[in-house]
Amino acid sequence: MSQMRVDDIQMAYDESGAGPPVVLLHGYPFNRSMWREQVATLSANYRVITPDLRGHGDSDSSAGPATMKAMARDVGLLMDGLGISRAIIGGLSMGGYVALAFYRLFALRVSSLILADTRAQADTEEAKQIRAQQAEKVIAEGMAGMVDSMLPKLLAPETVSKRPEVVKRIRDMMLRTKPEGAAAALMGMATREDQTENLSRIIPPTLILVGRDDSITPLQDAERMHQQIGGSRLVVIENAGHVSNIEQPEQFNKALTDFLHT
Ligand code: MLT
Repeated sequence: MSQMRVDDIQMAYDESGAGPPVVLLHGYPFNRSMWREQVATLSANYRVITPDLRGHGDSDSSAGPATMKAMARDVGLLMDGLGISRAIIGGLSMGGYVALAFYRLFALRVSSLILADTRAQADTEEAKQIRAQQAEKVIAEGMAGMVDSMLPKLLAPETVSKRPEVVKRIRDMMLRTKPEGAAAALMGMATREDQTENLSRIIPPTLILVGRDDSITPLQDAERMHQQIGGSRLVVIENAGHVSNIEQPEQFNKALTDFLHT
């Protein structure tokens, strides 16, 4: 693990391989370890950077909502520190929200965009209220209750019934997130901008991935982004839910390498 001071936090990240830079942004409440299989494949041909977004993994938390814009600025500062002006930017779920915010802030720094199991819409009023309740709950009670209620919704039925090691890996990763970091991310996601109107302005090649059984950011959300981002490619990952890169790494990696090598 490496660390860099960005803005008001110490940010943890891993870096491996050499070649065109790829920056992969994890979801909530995950951390950079979720990209293990993608780093193993991509680092043969690319310089792969996987940060822990603020409040997650080994990065510091900050007071107040951790907005998608703040996280995107952190990524920009990390790239500055690493001497990377332009990169392939990919994100899963919350990482996708951050990737879209990054594009809004720094369009010219994005050579290609990868949006996995994510959506362009902002939260509904009801979703915002649920986030506020969840933030209070994790601060008062810790992560375990939230993780246990979220976990079955995250995964495809096949993953839950047949792949206990995958369920355990994701559960352990979620439990490592500090309650204050999770609460800050929840409040940040609740205030994120609706990016729907901006999708048609996305110019770089864009890959959209989604697990067929994703119930959090369903196929319909991915199809909407695909319709609006000109020339984008949509790949549906079979037998996967919301964490499609861990549930089906071979399919996910094939989609990534097919996209990046063409
Ligand atoms: C994620 O996986 O990053 C979150 O489930 C996204 C969300 O809660 O909107």
